[in-house]
Amino acid sequence: MMGARGDLIVHTAVLLPRHYTDEQWFEHERNTLFATSWIFVGMAGDVARPDDYFRVELAGLDVIVQNCDGQLRAFVNSCSHRHARIHEELRGNRRLVCPYHGWSYDGEGRPAGIPHRENFPEVCARPGDFALRQLELQTVGLFIFVRTAGDGAPLRTYLSQAWGFLERVSASLDAVLDDFSGTLASNWKIAIENALEGYHVPLIHRSTLGAINQFSAQREDIVDHLPDDNGHSWMINAANAEWLRRWQRFEQAIGSWPFKFDHYVHQLVFPNLTVTSFLGYSFHIQRFQPDAVNRTTVHSRIYAARCSNQSAEGNRILRRIYEENREFTHRVFAEDQRACKLTYLGALQARRPAVLAQHLEKRIAHFQLAYLSVLPDAAPAGSGSS
Ligand code: FES
Ligand SMILES: [Fe+2]
Repeated sequence: MMGARGDLIVHTAVLLPRHYTDEQWFEHERNTLFATSWIFVGMAGDVARPDDYFRVELAGLDVIVQNCDGQLRAFVNSCSHRHARIHEELRGNRRLVCPYHGWSYDGEGRPAGIPHRENFPEVCARPGDFALRQLELQTVGLFIFVRTAGDGAPLRTYLSQAWGFLERVSASLDAVLDDFSGTLASNWKIAIENALEGYHVPLIHRSTLGAINQFSAQREDIVDHLPDDNGHSWMINAANAEWLRRWQRFEQAIGSWPFKFDHYVHQLVFPNLTVTSFLGYSFHIQRFQPDAVNRTTVHSRIYAARCSNQSAEGNRILRRIYEENREFTHRVFAEDQRACKLTYLGALQARRPAVLAQHLEKRIAHFQLAYLSVLPDAAPAGSGSS
């Protein structure tokens, strides 16, 4: 049963088991959802200097994000001459020069230097016709997004409310505290759905998240925000009042940071980016990269917030918190790894759609309805959805 996004009454998941397990469906969603949506690919700090670049897989394409004399550009990693890869490493600092015969490219991807150029009169006469395939790239703050196909809305419209949030987060970020990639033996949507509910915390995370008392457990202190017109949802969980009082005692020493709040926030930027923070003193950014129908790589990064008026003691306190945070985050990840794998293996056997908790799993229903609006052919026959 389902309704419009504004009056979510979904009890049965609208996606079927095969949408998580079928290889052909995986290809289809990659060529549609991941091609026509703005997809987060990385952070501007990684390509800050001219010629800095990184590679990322997007909608089946090997994509280069490159700093071309201060402008960020996205190109498909395939030389116009005989199609060799231009960059072989995942990241680095190198001009756009093909390692095979040495063609070099300008900031618009046009061939600019060609050894034995007299052999290529056509290319020299019309270099624009032989440019690298350039993809749309837009940024909000430090967050870089790329879209590989379609001529839909600009990033700002696409992100809607999430735009302002990512801007404020960007203005807060300081040093990278942790940077790791982990693989899940699961479909990417299972991983996202797992991130969208806290219902599994008492069992799966009983020795980590389940054992801490930072969060208020009162139902009314957990608020889901589920906009009607896009798939970006966020959840705010008030901090435990007593815990907050204790924290405030050393706040004086720690100083202040730009984006300060008194809760935990979990933001999904549809379809595959999450940004979370507790109080705003650090931010956890995760990109869920679909590698195969049953394999997802999670690129995870934790940033410290920029702090001012911090005492030496405050700095020590925060370093310790950050260190614990890092270790804690890795343990939580390993626990979610298990949950996602179990769910994928079970989904291979399932015949009926999953059942969703009315309140506790509302964000999953919201995610699925957003998914359905991009991929309407996922709707089960007779569901009445469109
Ligand atoms: S394939 Fe790139 S220069 Fe020849
Ligand atoms: Fe979890």
